[in-house]
Amino acid sequence: MTLSKKIKQKFAHVSLAHTPTPLERLNNLSSVLKHPDGEINLWVKRDDCTGLGAGGNKARQLEFYAGEALAQSADTLLTTGAVQSNHVRMTVAAARKLGMSCEVQQESRVADRPTEYYRSGNPFLVHMMGATLHTYPEGEDEEGADHALYDIAGRLKLAGKSPYVVPLSPAHPPIGALGYMLAAEELLEQAGDIKIDSVILASGSGTTHSGLLTGLRALGSQAKVYGICVRRSAELQRPRIAERCKTLCQMLGLPLLVNEADILLDDRTLAPGYGKLNDAVYRAIFTTAKAEGILLDPTYTGKAMAGLYGLLESRVFAAGQNIVFLHTGGLPGAFGYPELMEYSGPS
Ligand SMILES: Cc1ncc(COP(=O)(O)O)c(C=O)c1O
Repeated sequence: MTLSKKIKQKFAHVSLAHTPTPLERLNNLSSVLKHPDGEINLWVKRDDCTGLGAGGNKARQLEFYAGEALAQSADTLLTTGAVQSNHVRMTVAAARKLGMSCEVQQESRVADRPTEYYRSGNPFLVHMMGATLHTYPEGEDEEGADHALYDIAGRLKLAGKSPYVVPLSPAHPPIGALGYMLAAEELLEQAGDIKIDSVILASGSGTTHSGLLTGLRALGSQAKVYGICVRRSAELQRPRIAERCKTLCQMLGLPLLVNEADILLDDRTLAPGYGKLNDAVYRAIFTTAKAEGILLDPTYTGKAMAGLYGLLESRVFAAGQNIVFLHTGGLPGAFGYPELMEYSGPS
C-alpha cells in the first residue's frame, strides 16, 4: 500500500487542494544563477497553484485539519495568524468551501506597517470571503494565541455551535504535516528517473518542512531538505523540526526516520525579522520575477528564494544537481508591501 493511502486510511482527510501541482524546470534562472563549474538544474514545485482561496501550501495541511473537523461534525473553523497570514486566508476559504463558519484571530506580529498591510492582500481576501475577526495583541506568543482561540471556541460551544480549532503552537500534534508527507510522494512520482538532490523551502511553523522531510525519508529518498528560516533563528527552529518529525513518525507507527544531521536550516536571510524585507529578499523577488515570471512574496517565498541564492553562492550544490524550490504561495501578502514599488534594481 502506498504511503498516501496508509495515511488517508488512518487520518480523516478531505480533498481541498488541486494536486498534483506542476513540477517545472526553471530554464532561465538555471542559467542566470550559473554555478562556476557548470549549470545547476533548478526546478520549482508549484504549490502556489493548489487552488484553494488563491492557493498555497496551507491547502495540503488543511486537508487533514478540515477532515478532522468534519469527522467531529464541526460547523465552525477557528484559527490564528499574522494580519497578512496566508494560513488564515486559506482556512477561511476551506471553511467556506465546506459550508462552515469561520472565526479568525489577527495577531500584531509586524510593527510599523503602512495602511496597505491591514487593508490589502490577505486581510482584503478574508474580508471578501467573510469571517468573524478577533485580535490578539502579541505576535510571538503562540501558546497564548492558541489559548485565546480555545476561549473563543468555548464561548461558541455555550452558544450551541460546534467549533474546531486549527492550532498554531507546537504543543499540538502536527496533523497538517501529513499533507506534506503526501506531497513528498507526489514529488518523487513526478520526478521519476530524475534524482532530486535538494529541496529548498520556507520554514515557518515547520509543518511543511517536517512533513516533507519525514515523507521523503519514509519513501527512501535521501534528498536534502533545506529549511530557510522565515520566523525564528535556526537555533530555535531546529528542536521544533526535530520534535515534529519525531511525533509524525510516532503517529504513523514508523521508526524514527530523521536524525539531527538531516535537519538543515539557514537563517541568513531572516534579518531584520519575520515579515520584514532585506536587500537579498528584494533582489531574489525581482530577479526571479524577471527571469521566470514567477511571483514571490516578502515574508515567505522571497526569503526562501534569497536563501536558495545564498546556498548557491556558498557553493553548497554541485554542477548538474537537481534542486527543487518549493513555491509555497503567499503572493497576496506582497500587496501589503507597497515599498516593493520603490525598488528599481536589478535590471
Ligand atoms: C506562503 C507561505 N510559505 C511558507 C509558509 C511556512 O510554512 P510552515 O508554516 O508550514 O512552516 C507559510 C506559513 O504561513 C506561508 O504562508
